[in-house]
Amino acid sequence: MKEQILKIKEEAIKSLESVKDLKEFQEVYSKFLGRKAELNTLIKNLKNLELSERKEIGKLINQTKDFLIKAFENKRKELEKEEKEKIDLTEPENLPLLGVKHPVSLIIEEIVDIFRSLGFKIEEGKEIDTEFYNFTALNIPSEHPSRDVFDTFYLDLPLQNNYRWLLRSHTSPSQIHILKRKQLPARFISPGRVYRPENLDASHSFMFHQIEGFYVDKDVKFSHLKGVLNLFAKKLFGKNTETRFRPHYFPFTEPSVEMDVSCFFCSKKGCSVCKKTGFIEILGAGLIHPNVLKACGINPKKWSGFAFGLGIERIAMLKFKISDIRYFTDNDIRFLNSFV
Ligand code: PHE
Repeated sequence: MKEQILKIKEEAIKSLESVKDLKEFQEVYSKFLGRKAELNTLIKNLKNLELSERKEIGKLINQTKDFLIKAFENKRKELEKEEKEKIDLTEPENLPLLGVKHPVSLIIEEIVDIFRSLGFKIEEGKEIDTEFYNFTALNIPSEHPSRDVFDTFYLDLPLQNNYRWLLRSHTSPSQIHILKRKQLPARFISPGRVYRPENLDASHSFMFHQIEGFYVDKDVKFSHLKGVLNLFAKKLFGKNTETRFRPHYFPFTEPSVEMDVSCFFCSKKGCSVCKKTGFIEILGAGLIHPNVLKACGINPKKWSGFAFGLGIERIAMLKFKISDIRYFTDNDIRFLNSFV
């Protein structure tokens, strides 16, 4: 029996040495120290032995058990330590959330950078303004429909020189604020929020962003406008982009145009984005109307200029293929994180 016990001990030590992880450890533990372990069977059989032998063997079994318990305990600690130190590649990362730029900011920055490289200065203008700046000085007649309360948010504030306060409905009033300083030549780019009473749907919002750009100098011609906007279109949409100027009407420019760019999705083949026309309308522009210069105290016989205005959300929707303008203001973190 002694030999049997020593054999069990040896076997247990050997098995324990080859254990590689906690799972294997558990199996080996059950085999040598569990309820059905051989040592326990031996204890049960002690009663068949003679008293003297029973004492001796009992002691040996207990010593062996104590020895094994200690050995197993040490091994378990060792394994647990190893397990903790192991790198688990599947564990989810726990990085702090990094902020990302809003797609509207990304487009504004991209456009502003293009014009900055052409020597344009940046000035944001005012979101709360008066009828004078938003309409009158821009040669928009007093009966013009855009002045209607259905097209402009008027503010319930005391009049300013007989003009009502309003939330600007376009960024063109920035032209007036800057040109009234009469520091010429002037070359400015003016991004910011504009407001119009619109029912919210996939393509309309009561607040959106525009960028205004203008250049006033001696002898500014339509060819300058075309040159600058052509270069801008190529930088923003890719070097193979073509532009197309269509006659249009704005009270504050003469002549006035709308500029289209060749579709940057299908390269003019015709797709759902360009509605099979091959071109996408991007901005309004023209040569600044002499009445606008006059309203700023500038002599239109000496100075001339061009101006253009474009909607940021529209460009962002085209560039990033965003189908609904409401995504910009929902602030869904999954949407925002997709523009990293
Ligand atoms: N202000 C015009 C608009 O909101 C855009 C524009 C700006 C057109 C400057 C011509 C020149 O539609």
